Amino acid sequence: MKAGGFQVMVRLMGLVRPLTGYMLLAIVMGLLGHLCASGITVVGGRILLAVLYPDWSSGLEFFLILVFVFALLRGILRYAEQTANHYIAFKLLALLRDRVFAALRRLSPAKLEGRDRGNLISLITSDIELLEVFYAHTISPIAIAVLFGLVVVFVCASCHVLLGLLAALAHLMVGALIPIVTSRLSGDDGLHLRRQSGELASYVLDSLRGLSEVLQYGQGAARLATIQRRTATLSACERRMKIRGGLNQAVNSTVILAFDFAMLLLASSLCDFPGALIATLTLMSSFGPALALADLGSTLQRTFAAARRVLDILDEEPVVTDIHGREAVPFHGAAAEAVSFAYSGEDILQDLSLEVPEGEIIGISGRSGSGKSTLLKLFMRFWQVQKGRILISGRSVEDINTDHLRSLESYMTQETHLFRDSIRNNLCIAKLDASQEELESACRQAAIHDFIQSLPQGYDTEVGELGDTLSGGERQRLGLARAFLHNAPFLLLDEPTSNLDSLNEALILKSLHTGRRGKTVLLVSHRQSTLGICDRSYSLEHGRMS
Ligand SMILES: Nc1ncnc2c1ncn2[C@@H]1O[C@H](COP(=O)(O)OP(=O)(O)OP(=O)(O)O)[C@@H](O)[C@H]1O
Ligand SMILES: [Mg+2]
Repeated sequence: MKAGGFQVMVRLMGLVRPLTGYMLLAIVMGLLGHLCASGITVVGGRILLAVLYPDWSSGLEFFLILVFVFALLRGILRYAEQTANHYIAFKLLALLRDRVFAALRRLSPAKLEGRDRGNLISLITSDIELLEVFYAHTISPIAIAVLFGLVVVFVCASCHVLLGLLAALAHLMVGALIPIVTSRLSGDDGLHLRRQSGELASYVLDSLRGLSEVLQYGQGAARLATIQRRTATLSACERRMKIRGGLNQAVNSTVILAFDFAMLLLASSLCDFPGALIATLTLMSSFGPALALADLGSTLQRTFAAARRVLDILDEEPVVTDIHGREAVPFHGAAAEAVSFAYSGEDILQDLSLEVPEGEIIGISGRSGSGKSTLLKLFMRFWQVQKGRILISGRSVEDINTDHLRSLESYMTQETHLFRDSIRNNLCIAKLDASQEELESACRQAAIHDFIQSLPQGYDTEVGELGDTLSGGERQRLGLARAFLHNAPFLLLDEPTSNLDSLNEALILKSLHTGRRGKTVLLVSHRQSTLGICDRSYSLEHGRMS
């Protein structure tokens, strides 16, 4: 176990506390189930005695019924144990998902914009899923193996103390020593296999998504070769693991047989025949729970690595925290006051000041990567400035309720994200209770109403995954319609016209200019024609306005 593995385990166990009753139930059921399974073999031995020796023949019927009852109970108890374990596991997965989503809400939007967002997907899918192994197949099996081992040692020791010692040794070997040694030997193969197959899947998906680029630049053969090479590496890794798995099984079976044989020899020299028979049968039938731990070594390391990532997210401090309990302010203009900002050490804005007076349209241009979108995000308070202040109505955004700030601002991002849903629902995220008139008015303003009307199902047309069925300009105008529908006094528009033809651009600029009804607009654009409607425009250069 790596450093910190113990703490991870303690925290994971801590989550089980409200479900302790179910956990105990699973352990008791599992223990009783294994006792029944062993009981079948041991009582079977007793029945054999009764058949072979007339002295032992009394109670034969009782033992036959007992075997039947044990068999029946074994099935029921196993079912009950698995049900309790999976109930715990899935309850806790739901709880963890809930907590992770709560953490992501707390950490967003900065976390979701950050450069490691790709890892977040695997965290909220596969990492959490892996914890099922811990809750359903780790805790109670270990407890059951230990308790059951103790019962077996006790039964054997009741024949002779040396037999008890032999049983203890056998269980330690099969349940602890062999799993630890094999997990050391197998190293990180399991981890590699999982990671590499994940990478291969995303490489294939990436190739499919970029199929037109792959075809255009003649990269098909090269991509295929890479896929084949990776598949071959995966197969080799899997082969190694399977061979090792087979070897492990062989070693386990040999060790178990050796101990059974040793028990038979030792017991026959130390006890009478019935005692020797019972002790040997008890040991022979007792390795089920210990064998269940055999594969745990390699999976546990993966589980703890996944758990560590999940717990890290829960512990992470957000870049910005939501603000509550402040007084609402009406909108009277915005400003940036000597603002400096860097993304984890990468300076973007330096000592930047900007005035956005109420009712005016302010334009910002500047080369790609100069920090224009970043500045808009600072007005939205998606990130925290390192120096200076962002002001709304003369008050720092750090001092305005987050919900209120969002209601003062309509932000149209540079890339409009469309959900796999109808056009109506995609627009209504900006105003959940928007009426048809409001929708249409916003869409007219964004010059997209006529297009929507021309679709077979109008506003109820589905836009497909990532809005793939729409053109770039159509997506952009839907983004703009969303921002208009939100109907906030301060509009932040990031490249609202970059994908539009000049006719649609002119329509939108006209509605922005004449139909804004006192709204204040901060507009980022590379196009001179768009910047033309601004009351004032600035250029962002070397982190400053000029
Ligand atoms: N979440 C982030 N983490 C780290 N760096 C980032 C992040 N977002 C943006 N950057 C970097 O910050 C710089 C400014 O990005 P920004 O998106 O603000 O530029 P921009 O002026 O809007 O460019 P464009 O005109 O191409 O849209 C870029 O170099 C970008 O790579
Ligand atoms: Mg940008």
